[in-house]
Amino acid sequence: MASVTFDPAAGLFHLTNGRVSYIISLADGKYPLHLYWGKALRTVRDDLVCRRLGRRTHDAFTMHETPLDRLPQECPVFGCGDMREGMLQVRHSDGSEALDLTYLSHSVSDEKPALPGLPSARGEGSRTLTLTLRDEPTGVEVDLLYTLWDDCDAIARSAVIRNNGKTPVTLEKALSFCLDLEGSGYELVTLQGAWARERQWTRRRLVMGDQGTGTVRGASSQQTSPFLALTGDGCTEDSGECMGFALCWSGSFFANVHVDQFSSARVMMGVQPFDFSWELKGGECFRCPEAYLVYSFEGLGGMSRAFHRLVHSHITSGAFARASRPILINNWEATYFDFNEEKLLSIASCAKEAGVDLFVLDDGWFGRRDSDNCSLGDWTDDLRKLPEGLKGLSRKIHAMGMKFGLWVEPEMISPDSDLYRSHPDWCIHSGDRIRVENRHQLVLDMTREDVKAYVKQAIGDAIGRAEADYIKWDMNRNINMIGTCTLPPERMKEFSFRYILGVYEVMRDITSRFPRVLFESCAGGGGRFDLGMMCLMPQAWTSDDTDAWMRCGIQYATSLVFPPSCMGAHVSAVPNHQTGRVSPLSARAAVAMGGTFGYELDPTKLSEEEKADIRRYNERVRAWQDVLLYGDFLRLKSPFDSGECAWMSVSPDREKAVVTHVFRDGAPNAMPGLLKLRGLDPDADYRDEDTGLVLGGDEMMLRGIPVPPARGDYSACQFFLRRV
Ligand code: GLA
Repeated sequence: MASVTFDPAAGLFHLTNGRVSYIISLADGKYPLHLYWGKALRTVRDDLVCRRLGRRTHDAFTMHETPLDRLPQECPVFGCGDMREGMLQVRHSDGSEALDLTYLSHSVSDEKPALPGLPSARGEGSRTLTLTLRDEPTGVEVDLLYTLWDDCDAIARSAVIRNNGKTPVTLEKALSFCLDLEGSGYELVTLQGAWARERQWTRRRLVMGDQGTGTVRGASSQQTSPFLALTGDGCTEDSGECMGFALCWSGSFFANVHVDQFSSARVMMGVQPFDFSWELKGGECFRCPEAYLVYSFEGLGGMSRAFHRLVHSHITSGAFARASRPILINNWEATYFDFNEEKLLSIASCAKEAGVDLFVLDDGWFGRRDSDNCSLGDWTDDLRKLPEGLKGLSRKIHAMGMKFGLWVEPEMISPDSDLYRSHPDWCIHSGDRIRVENRHQLVLDMTREDVKAYVKQAIGDAIGRAEADYIKWDMNRNINMIGTCTLPPERMKEFSFRYILGVYEVMRDITSRFPRVLFESCAGGGGRFDLGMMCLMPQAWTSDDTDAWMRCGIQYATSLVFPPSCMGAHVSAVPNHQTGRVSPLSARAAVAMGGTFGYELDPTKLSEEEKADIRRYNERVRAWQDVLLYGDFLRLKSPFDSGECAWMSVSPDREKAVVTHVFRDGAPNAMPGLLKLRGLDPDADYRDEDTGLVLGGDEMMLRGIPVPPARGDYSACQFFLRRV
C-alpha cells in the first residue's frame, strides 16, 4: 500500500509503497530537500544538511546565509542562495525575480488532485503528498504534488504555481519537477531521431555541465522524446539501478541534467522555457504538466515494465485500454491519394477474407484532395471518389462484417481550401509576413474559440457520417511564426502552451462524444508519441517507416517507455516504400506483432500463398494478443548493439510467452545458436506451438532456446510458448 508519513520532529516526509521510498526533509523547517529515492528503506537519520554546512545543528540556519547552492532541493529557484538554474522563475511587477519559497503547509490525500485542462494519470490506489511553499513578500505559492501508487513504482510529480498576492507576476519558467541526486556516476539515455527514424536509443556518460534533450517545435516531436533515463554503474536490461523520467505533455519540452561543481546531478523536466511566459494575476494559478519518475533496481527492463504498468493501469482509458484491438488494414501505402470506392472495396473484401477486422480509409477522401497540397479543413466527402460519400462506403464495409475507420488531420488548414478562403485569419500567422508552409499546409489557431468550435463540429460530423469505429488523428507539421489575436503582444509567449491546451480540449470533446470509437494518434508517423497523447488515445502510429528492420530499432527503443499496446505496427509491401528493402513476409509480420497489428498494403496484389500466410498471422495475433499487447515485455538483444534484435512478452501468470528474434544479415555457413530468455517460470516446462519442442523455463533462461540460423537477410523466427 502506498503511504505518506510525516515525522515532525525530524522534519521528514516519507513516501513508500513497500518497494520504493522517496524521502524529503525540511531544512530548518523551511526548505524541502531531497534525501533519498530508491529501494524502500525504513528512514533516513543522517543529517545531510548539517554535514554539508559543516555544522552540528540547524541553529542559525537563516536565509541570507543558507548555502542552498550545496543542498539537494525539491523546488530550487535561482538567486536566493542557489546559484544553479532552478525549476521556477517568476518576474515580479517591479522587474525583480527573487523568490524565497519556504514551507507553509502540507496535506496527504487518497484523491489524486486533478490538473484541469491537462491530461494526467488516474489516481486509483494512490496517495498524494501536497507540499505548499510560499514567498512571504509577494504571496506567490507553489504546491509540489507527489503521487505514489500501490501497484506501480512510479511517482507522479507536478507543481501548481499560485499568485496569492494582489499584483500580477509573470512566470518565465515553470518546470514540473527537480530531482537533485547525490553523485553523477550515471549514463544518460535519451531518444533522438527524425522523420522515419524516430526514437533512436542514445546513451552517453554524464559530464560536468548541462546535457539532456528538448524541443521547441510545438510538439513532442520526431527529433526527440519527453523522456530520459539515468543508469547506474553496471546497469543492464535486468539488473542494476535505473531511473526513468517521462513527461505527460505533447508540446515543446525541456529535459536536462546538470552536473555541478560537487558532482551532484540535477534532473529537471517540464514545459520548454524558451519562448514561454505566463501572466498570473492575483488569485490565478498555473499548472505544470505531470511528470513520472520511475525507479528500478532491475535495470532498464524493470524501468520499462514500471512505465508499462503505469500506462496500462493509470494512463490509457476507455473501451480499448485493456481490451483486444482490431486487426486493421490501412489503404495509405496501397493507394496513396489515388483511389475510388471500387478500389477500396476490393482491398477491404480481400482483407476480410484473410481475417482482417477493420478497414481504414486514410488521407484523400475529402474536399478535392488528390495530393497533399489542398483541402485540409474541408471535411466534406469527395463524391468524385466516393459517389455515396463516407456513409455509403462505410455501410458497404460494415455489410461485409468489417469495421470502418477514417483518417483526419483536424489541426491543419491548406491555403488551397474553402475553409482558408472564408477564414484566412484562422491559421497561426505573424501579421502580414509570409505564411511559411510545410507540406503545403498551415496550422489552425487552436487558441481561438471559433476555430475549436468548427473543428469539434466538422470532425464530429465526419465521424458520425462515417459511422466510424476507428479514427486516425494525424498532425503533419510543426509550428513557427507564432501570432494570434487571442493574446495581447506582451503575452504572446503563452501561445505554445495554450495551443496544446486547445488541442487537448478538442480531443477530449471528440473522444468523449464517441466512446466506442478506437482513436489512434499520429504525427507524420511518431511525431507526437508521448504520455499526454496516450491519456487521450490509447495507441499511436509509431513511425511512417514500415520497414521491418528499421521498425525493430524504433519499436525496441520506444518500448523504453511505451508498451506494445501503444505502438501502431503494420505489415507493408516490399520493396519497402521508405527504405527500398525487401524482407520476407514472415519477418514483417513478426515485427508488426510487436505492436497493435495491422497491414499497410494492397492485399489484392498478394499471391494465394501470401494470403494464406496472412490468414495464419491474423489467427495468431488474435489467439496471442493478450500476451503480445499486455504481457510483461523483455528486451533481449538490442539492434543498436548488433545486427540482431530480440524481445519477448510473458503473460503475468507466466503461462504463455511469445519470443521474437530478427536477424539483419543472412550469413553463409551459419549454425543454430542459443537465445537466452527471461521472465519464465524456471520450474515449469514450455512447449513451442510450432515445433512442439518442450524445454524447461530454467533451461531456456540459463542455457537458451535453440534459434535456427538466419535464412537470408532480415529473417525472423518466433516461438509461441505455453506452459505444459
Ligand atoms: C502522415 C501519416 C501517414 C499518412 C499520411 C497521409 O504522414 O503518418 O501514415 O496518414 O500522413 O497524408
